[in-house]
Amino acid sequence: MNHLFEFNYHNPTRIVFGPDSFAQLPSLLPADVRVLLLYGGGSIKQNGVYDGIRAALAGRDLVEFGGVEANPTQTTLDRAVDLVRREKIGFILGVGGGSVSDGAKYVAAAALYDGDGWDIVIGKHQPQQALPVGIVLTLPATGSESNAGSVVTNTATQDKRAFFVPPARPRFAVLNPAVMGSLPLRQLENGIVDAFVHVCEQYLTYPVGALVQDGYAEAVMKALVKLAATFDRHAEPDWQQNLMWAANQALCGIIGVGVPQDWATHRIAVELTALWGIDHGRTLAIIQPALLRELIEYKREKLEQFGREVFGLNAPSAEDAIAAMEAFYRSVNMPLHLRDGGISEPDAADRVLAGLRAHGKMALGGHAGIDEAKTERIVRAAC
Ligand code: NZQ
Ligand code: ZN
Repeated sequence: MNHLFEFNYHNPTRIVFGPDSFAQLPSLLPADVRVLLLYGGGSIKQNGVYDGIRAALAGRDLVEFGGVEANPTQTTLDRAVDLVRREKIGFILGVGGGSVSDGAKYVAAAALYDGDGWDIVIGKHQPQQALPVGIVLTLPATGSESNAGSVVTNTATQDKRAFFVPPARPRFAVLNPAVMGSLPLRQLENGIVDAFVHVCEQYLTYPVGALVQDGYAEAVMKALVKLAATFDRHAEPDWQQNLMWAANQALCGIIGVGVPQDWATHRIAVELTALWGIDHGRTLAIIQPALLRELIEYKREKLEQFGREVFGLNAPSAEDAIAAMEAFYRSVNMPLHLRDGGISEPDAADRVLAGLRAHGKMALGGHAGIDEAKTERIVRAAC
């Protein structure tokens, strides 16, 4: 099995990167459409991002929708869908982190669909069209700004779901590292870990002799480890620009072409956010070590390579590699168990397992054959 899978790769998102990138917004947006400026809880109004965008787009026909929450809900996004229809919006400009970016994609597709937007989230309706989307990124972490993924929560059923909506993949992403200055340190920590785990999900499987993909994945992970080791320099432009680019490259699709992937950490971890609102990056640090230990036999060769190439260990065992990864997470203040994340309910594991069961995720399969028994051991070990 030492060969690449077939692939068909096309990432049409234009990346406009740099401290002066807002100035290019007028040429990125079509001149004659009404644009929805979609944003989150208001950080952009305090840090100058809103003013910078408004100034760059002076004279353009802009309508605003603020209030997209972290881990966006369908309820909030459907209010934006109504506004898009009422105001005859022709372009969605999302300004924020992964939540706004994901929300922009949902709104862009749901606005052109007559049924319940949840059909798109569960794959019952696969949109062939969407309004065009552009993103101004304010938080490097998810890579959502140049991929086709989105994650939306149904609050009533505590179902936080990832789905793909290719027609809403952003036409452009403006990556201005200067906007990171106002980020709480906690969000920078989350960003490092989320991006790192994105690479892991596309790398920690089994070897297929993918020299380029493995080498690039290792380069991105080494960059993230280095950024964690130099975290005290987080206000410096070179540190910021490296995190912004690393997080984008981690999940723009390029490192995952032709190689086996295993997104089980993400698929289990979203339950922790759905239940307790824990930040996405932190949920990954809680689940991943337990998952890797449970599946160590299936991932041994790549774990050893990971220990050697990313952490510079000499002839590491798979367990040494997991321990090095945990030390890296601890260095950026991640919880490694649910209890360290402030959740000490005695029935916490049962609640996570009930969520996984309700959402059809007890037996994720994949190359490591994750069945119900393995899932239960992973969740109990992570709590
Ligand atoms: O809402 P505002 O006021 O803007 O505040 C946000 C929010 O409270 C704040 N923030 C963002 N930029 C800021 C800032 N505060 C100060 N200065 C800035 N420059 O940060 C908080 C968190 O923002 P959010 O967008 O929720 O964070 P993140 O980028 O980590 O996105 C998380 C969401 O993305 C999903 C996650 O599940 C979660 O729902 N993901 C999306 C993926 C994708 N589409 O590919 C992949 C990921 O694995 C992930 O699942
Ligand atoms: Zn993630």
